[in-house]
Amino acid sequence: MSDLESAPGDEIHTFDDELAALETPVAVDAPPPVEIPAAPVAAPAPVFVPQAPMPGATGTRVIALANQKGGVAKTTTTLNLGVAFKEMGYRVLLVDLDPQGNLTMSQGLNPDTIETSMFDVLVRKIPISDVIERREVDLAVASIDLAGAELALAALIGRERSLEKALLEVRDRYDFILIDTPPSLGLLTINAFVAATGVIVPVQCEYLALRGLVQLENTLAMVRENLNPRVGVEGIVPTMYDSRTLHAREAVEILEENFGDLVYKTRIRKTVRYAEAPVKGSSVLGYDPTGAAAEAYRELAKEVLHGAEAREHA
Ligand SMILES: Nc1ncnc2c1ncn2[C@@H]1O[C@H](COP(=O)(O)OP(=O)(O)O)[C@@H](O)[C@H]1O
Ligand SMILES: [Mg+2]
Repeated sequence: MSDLESAPGDEIHTFDDELAALETPVAVDAPPPVEIPAAPVAAPAPVFVPQAPMPGATGTRVIALANQKGGVAKTTTTLNLGVAFKEMGYRVLLVDLDPQGNLTMSQGLNPDTIETSMFDVLVRKIPISDVIERREVDLAVASIDLAGAELALAALIGRERSLEKALLEVRDRYDFILIDTPPSLGLLTINAFVAATGVIVPVQCEYLALRGLVQLENTLAMVRENLNPRVGVEGIVPTMYDSRTLHAREAVEILEENFGDLVYKTRIRKTVRYAEAPVKGSSVLGYDPTGAAAEAYRELAKEVLHGAEAREHA
């Protein structure tokens, strides 16, 4: 791992240390940890490695929406992509893994008053079905407690697999499980990567957007080596695209030069519709079903479906 760049205090470094600690032998009398990963080792890569999306044992696709930068439309994409899949007839579960609970709020629920949430699922091991609310799509809710989950999970053996295990109960009931992650590469996001068959990265159309992507891929490479050998980036979604500015067009060009086919052709344009819909407790597909904003996520849903098929047959 020494060849991976990591600045002092950066979260990858911390996670690396944690993994090293996990591999350290335990005291003689202690029961052997059940979760020492025995995954095949894949070489860490400096850029995104395209991975064929892995159908789960049940064919369910579990997609983590991730980018450690905040405000790039992870939550917006989780909800609207999920509702677009539902419109197409798929069974969809959304999982809110962000302590800020924006996804939960965007379906008209208040994370401050929710009593049991993904915190209890991950840390207290209650069944995930106990925290699923039926809204536009099924949603496993977050509450303010989730902010304590990183710390509480850190003490548990198998802490990186808590979500993967929780999802086993309901996996058969869904075709798509979309996981909204917090703006960090900590244990909650690692749990999402371990549970996922693929990762979709929303990226704001601006120059600086590229900066975090190497760090994201380094974290994914570590997860592949130690915990989930098949997970990788399925695609990158350019969001908040303003075609009138040269800046946005150039930012997308740079993305495509660096990541080629991984960049979806659908551009999610900048519009206030995406901010208006959650205030009404709705996706943009529910709020303005015939508008361009809704249509963009329907297009993206088709690409996510067909992109996966195309890559599987490549
Ligand atoms: N395409 C878009 N155009 C304009 N505003 C957007 C767009 N997508 C999301 N937003 C708004 O930007 C803010 C951040 O989006 P959000 O999905 O919460 O990002 P993240 O989950 O990555 O922090 C929200 O207020 C959201 O309504
Ligand atoms: Mg969010």
